[in-house]
Amino acid sequence: MAIILGIESSCDETSASICIDGEIKSNIIAGQAIHSKYGGVVPELASRAHQQNIIPTVDQAIQQAKITKNDIDAVAFTRGPGLLGSLLVGTSFAKSFALAREIPLIEVNHMQAHILAHFIDDPKPNFPFLCLTVSGGHTQIVLVNGYFEMELLGQTLDDAAGEAFDKTAKILTLPYPGGPLIDKYAQLGDPNAFSLPEPQIADLNFSFSGLKTAILYLVQAKIKEDPQFLERHLNDICASVQSRIVSILLNKLKKAAKQTGVKEVAIAGGVSANSGLRNALVEMGEEYKWRVFIPKFEYCTDNAAMIAIAGYQKYLRQDFVGQDITPLARMHI
Ligand code: KG4
Ligand code: ZN
Repeated sequence: MAIILGIESSCDETSASICIDGEIKSNIIAGQAIHSKYGGVVPELASRAHQQNIIPTVDQAIQQAKITKNDIDAVAFTRGPGLLGSLLVGTSFAKSFALAREIPLIEVNHMQAHILAHFIDDPKPNFPFLCLTVSGGHTQIVLVNGYFEMELLGQTLDDAAGEAFDKTAKILTLPYPGGPLIDKYAQLGDPNAFSLPEPQIADLNFSFSGLKTAILYLVQAKIKEDPQFLERHLNDICASVQSRIVSILLNKLKKAAKQTGVKEVAIAGGVSANSGLRNALVEMGEEYKWRVFIPKFEYCTDNAAMIAIAGYQKYLRQDFVGQDITPLARMHI
């Protein structure tokens, strides 16, 4: 039997999870409301909140899994990519825990973990599969050949998809993080109300900065005509923006599927919680006869269950690291 403690602290969520023989028994997530009033994550405040949250979060994960800390066989932690100060808290905790208990330490790549979240529940994808990983910091199309054999086929050249949602929300004077709010208002609006450009980017890469500027100019012009524009048309503008972001993402995914001939297609990361993206992917999957994989909501945004499941796979491979390990703000998939 293998009991893995997973620790996630790459951005503004402190999370701990217990995985027993590949089954997730607990997944505790402590969010950090403090960033909302600043309109984005403040790295210094995030590190401090992680420091406060980490012990209670781990305690709760252990309790909910009905084990004791002495039962844990290995500790897996997010090494990167992410905010360095935040990563240092999880890394230091994991190292201390492993040292005190004399158990193996496992490093996990956060972006790989978002993808490996698809191995938490059934049905699980078969290798090779394609994964569109869309979060606040990344937008990637990955060919997943094995648990830890991943090939980057395309990525954003500027903003990530989550950033496009959050920056649009800021233009619309909505609080951070704006992605979930745009999703909510979009469900009540007309996606064809406003036309927004689709960037012409070669290959399987993405760009969202032009879209952000187009939205800013559109909103500024409309407010000049009608100072009440945002109040009157919030749902329609959210629906139009969301529909454009989703079409940019899925057109590239379609291209990747065509190029590779792969018909198992997944989405992962915070933006995979978006209802427009989820619905459109299901439709596209039916049209192109793909097997489509959409994570449960709790495994879309940052969580330690994905770290624990990735850690479990590394545990099976005896893929451990030493106490000299350090976190990395940037890390390739
Ligand atoms: O994966 P994640 O929790 O953190 C990173 O690793 O970045 O992703 C956070 C991002 C934020 O930009 C947030 O606005 C976005 O995911 N997000 C959404 C939704 N839920 C979260 N974007 C659009 N629609 C949603 N429902
Ligand atoms: Zn993430």
